[in-house]
Amino acid sequence: MKRIAVFASGFGSNLQALIDFSKNDDLSGEIVLVFSDKSGAYALQRAKNHGIKAVFLDPAQFKTRSQYDEKVADILKEEKIDLVVLAGYMLLIGQNIVAKFKNRIINIHPALLPAFKGTHGIKDAFDYGVKVTGVTVHFVDEGLDSGPIIIQQAVEVTEEDSAETLEEKIHAVEHKIYPLAVKHFCNGRLKILGRKVIIRQ
Ligand code: GRF
Repeated sequence: MKRIAVFASGFGSNLQALIDFSKNDDLSGEIVLVFSDKSGAYALQRAKNHGIKAVFLDPAQFKTRSQYDEKVADILKEEKIDLVVLAGYMLLIGQNIVAKFKNRIINIHPALLPAFKGTHGIKDAFDYGVKVTGVTVHFVDEGLDSGPIIIQQAVEVTEEDSAETLEEKIHAVEHKIYPLAVKHFCNGRLKILGRKVIIRQ
């Protein structure tokens, strides 16, 4: 069983989807830690509700960002984490953590990368007037939303959609595909070849 840490700064609906999947299906990994940079993140409460260790670490308590990152790296080491799953984590992951956890950090982005990178993927796509957007699960590298893509799923934007209904559709897809990507990782099925990720059957 792979040991999984989920990083979340907010509501944590993707965390919940992973927890629910692990109860009903075989995730092939165990969520042993939920980590947050925000004390009020509801994700921390979700972790507690399910008996998962919840850790909040306040960036403001550290002189520099690299000191914060060192502490985060220590926690990951102590907990013997194999995979870091970013689920609405709003802080950029420090470069030393990316280096230490090369190809072992994944993220979910609410648009079809490389379109609409950044923190407002759903609204940016909606305002742009795209007819198709979607969800991307990808490995994290040194750049912003730029690592190799594991899974993408398209979502149609209809004329009836508002930014809110589009958000609901995007979240529904996220909750379906993120657990699958985590499961593939835990089963050792993901092979990275340059920018391409092969899912071995
Ligand atoms: C999701 O839309 C995800 O794609 C983005 O942040 C949001 C997190 O939502 N990275 P939640 O906290 O999991 O509900």
